Amino acid sequence: ERIAIIPSPRRIKSGTDGVFDERRRRGGERTAQDVVESGMDVGLGTGSTTAWAVAEIGRLLREGELEDVRGVATSLQSHELAKETGIPLVNLDEVTELDVTIDGADQYSEEEPTVIKGGGGAHAREKIIDAMADRLVIATDEEKATDPLDYPVPVEVMPDAREVVAEDLRDVGGDPELRMAERKDGPLFTANGNLVIDCDFGGLDDTSGTARDIEQIPGVLEHGIFLDMVDDVYLGTEDDVETVSF
Ligand code: 5RP
Repeated sequence: ERIAIIPSPRRIKSGTDGVFDERRRRGGERTAQDVVESGMDVGLGTGSTTAWAVAEIGRLLREGELEDVRGVATSLQSHELAKETGIPLVNLDEVTELDVTIDGADQYSEEEPTVIKGGGGAHAREKIIDAMADRLVIATDEEKATDPLDYPVPVEVMPDAREVVAEDLRDVGGDPELRMAERKDGPLFTANGNLVIDCDFGGLDDTSGTARDIEQIPGVLEHGIFLDMVDDVYLGTEDDVETVSF
């Protein structure tokens, strides 16, 4: 079974890009089984974990265990995968509410309903689709739990504004780095035609303060702190799936 993935910077750095972890599969599949019901409109997240959830929704539909489910994709990756697995898709501009969104995370906290996302550079669209849902369920694995959150925050910026935004990010305590394309022959462009700056703030002791600081910088289009948005986290462990609910 082959599933396209969008690699996160962490996996590129650790050299494990493309390796499917059994924990992520378990977390993704169980999330789909537990939270998706017939008749639902479902936001389909991006990344290697949600890819398993999307594939599982497709299987449940094909086998008649679910019906009348429609998906809204958060990226080209989830759009293609949903099409391949047979989930009927609706465009984002055709709906304003969703029953549930299943999305992944680069880091989550067990103490606050906040995650850092954007390892695949899809966080602008993900934030819209995650926020539209009555329930946001994060499918992930136990390795990504951290408190306080300290993953470099992906910040989508207008290309021309990258230098001034980087300067402003330094002024609010960050260490910005322009994200390069996987082949390293130039910067990565998002699906919206923008650039991504990964900004390391160290441990986020004041997550909402940092989110506010970033939002106030002109030229920033979206950032990867998904503040107070999460309802449940499904995390695949070595031999099971655990849940954290807020
Ligand atoms: C993409 C994301 C992904 O959800 C995040 O990178 C997690 O991906 P994975 O499940 O592959 O680790 O935010 O923008």
